[in-house]
Amino acid sequence: MAKYEVGYLVGSLASNSINRKLALALVNLSPPELDLREIPIRDLPLYCYDYDSDYPEVAKRFKDAIANVDAVLFVTPEYNRSIPGALKNAIDWASRPYGKNAFTRKPSAVIGTSPGSIGTAVGQQHLRSILRFSNSPLSVIPYAYMLLTSVVRKVSGRVSCESMVEFLTN
Ligand code: FNR
Repeated sequence: MAKYEVGYLVGSLASNSINRKLALALVNLSPPELDLREIPIRDLPLYCYDYDSDYPEVAKRFKDAIANVDAVLFVTPEYNRSIPGALKNAIDWASRPYGKNAFTRKPSAVIGTSPGSIGTAVGQQHLRSILRFSNSPLSVIPYAYMLLTSVVRKVSGRVSCESMVEFLTN
């Protein structure tokens, strides 16, 4: 059986992040052919192109981690109808220096949860737009944002709602 390595980025840095809980639930639900592991973004400094000639170690490790997985999954909240600054910063690091964009032809998918009534719909649209510009072929998880608004309290490292398990695994 072929094994695929999927690196996931959690857009939130919060210690009690509901999106991190969602990510852990997805790890628990993932089929045996998928190896999901986190690619951390927390320690990245703020990107600036002054670094392009000599990336700091933490940013090199981050870029290498993206290069070495088969696909990237973004699990992110929506902040002010967009994505959190920490996640945008991580994407900027991965996309540079010019011509060495780690997302080129790297398949990606987006999911997220929020207590708000439209979930992370708008943030996800922004993220998809960024990823399209970054030449990442996007897999669509239909309506992931809206459905996840109503189950946000059911996610705590495991998904306890059977219909949601079915949705997430199909
Ligand atoms: C939010 N929140 C939020 N929710 C939403 O549905 N749409 C939004 O635009 C925003 N904007 C926003 C901005 C900022 C700065 C914060 C801190 C929060 C609420 C958000 O969904 C909620 O705090 C979630 O718990 C965030 O997910 P994590 O960080 O817990 O994974």
